[in-house]
Amino acid sequence: MTQAEAKPDGLGGNGSGFNSAVISPASPGEWLQICSQFASIPPWTTLGLRADELHHSLTIDPRRCMLKMANPGDDKVIAAAIVRQSCAAELLYFRGFGAAIARRFSLQNSDDWTCAPEAGYIASLAVFDAQTGRGLGTQMLLAVHDFLRQQNQHSVFLTVSDFNRNARRFYERHGYEFLGAVDNCIRPGNRENLMYRHL
Ligand SMILES: CC(C)(COP(=O)(O)OP(=O)(O)OC[C@H]1O[C@@H](n2cnc3c(N)ncnc32)[C@H](O)[C@@H]1OP(=O)(O)O)[C@@H](O)C(=O)NCCC(=O)NCCS
Repeated sequence: MTQAEAKPDGLGGNGSGFNSAVISPASPGEWLQICSQFASIPPWTTLGLRADELHHSLTIDPRRCMLKMANPGDDKVIAAAIVRQSCAAELLYFRGFGAAIARRFSLQNSDDWTCAPEAGYIASLAVFDAQTGRGLGTQMLLAVHDFLRQQNQHSVFLTVSDFNRNARRFYERHGYEFLGAVDNCIRPGNRENLMYRHL
C-alpha cells in the first residue's frame, strides 16, 4: 500500500480536514440529483451527456452504485463517483479495449490478469462546486478503491476523455496505467483512454 493509499478512516471520513465530510453510498432517491451535478460540468457538458442518461445507466445496471461525499446532515453533495463491479468481461468485448487489455496482460506476468475478471470500473468521478485542487478528489478516489476492495474487486478500470488532460494526470498520479484508446467513443470525434490499476 502506498502512502497515498494509507487513508486513516476507511469509507467514513475524508481525513482532509475539509469540515467533517463523510463518504457513503448515495441512496437511489439521490441519484438523479447527483447525476444533474455531474451533467452540469465538464467533461459531461463537453460530451453532451445528460443527467437522465447517467441516471438511466445506473438504474438499469444492478452492479452500478454511487458514492457521495457530504457533510453530515447536509444535503449538499461535495463529490461523487459512479462505480461498477465485475466489468472485465464487458471491457474485453468493447471495441479496441479488448485488444489493449490482451496486449497488456499477455506481455507481462499473467498472474496480474488472473484477478482482473473481478475488476471494478469507475464510470464517473467528480468534485463539485469548483472545490477541486483541495485533495477531495484524492479522498474520493481512495474511498472508491476501498469500496471496491470490500467487494472483492482486485483491480479497477476507467476511461478518461483525451481532452480531459487534468483528469488523466490525476489518475496517473494515483497509479493508473494507460492501456489503449478508442476513437469516436461516446460521441463522434471523442477519444476515450482506457486506464487500469491493481488494487
Ligand atoms: C479530476 C478531479 C476529480 C480531481 O479532483 P481534485 O479534488 O481536484 O484532486 P486533488 O485535489 O485530490 O488533487 C489534485 C491536486 O490538488 C492538490 N492537492 C491535493 N491535496 C491537497 C490538499 N489537501 N490541499 C490542497 N491541495 C491539494 C495537489 O496539487 C494535487 O496535485 P498532486 O496530486 O500533483 O499533488 C477533479 O478535478 C474533477 O472533479 N474534475 C472534473 C470532473 C472530471 O474530470 N472527472 C474525471 C473524469 S471521470
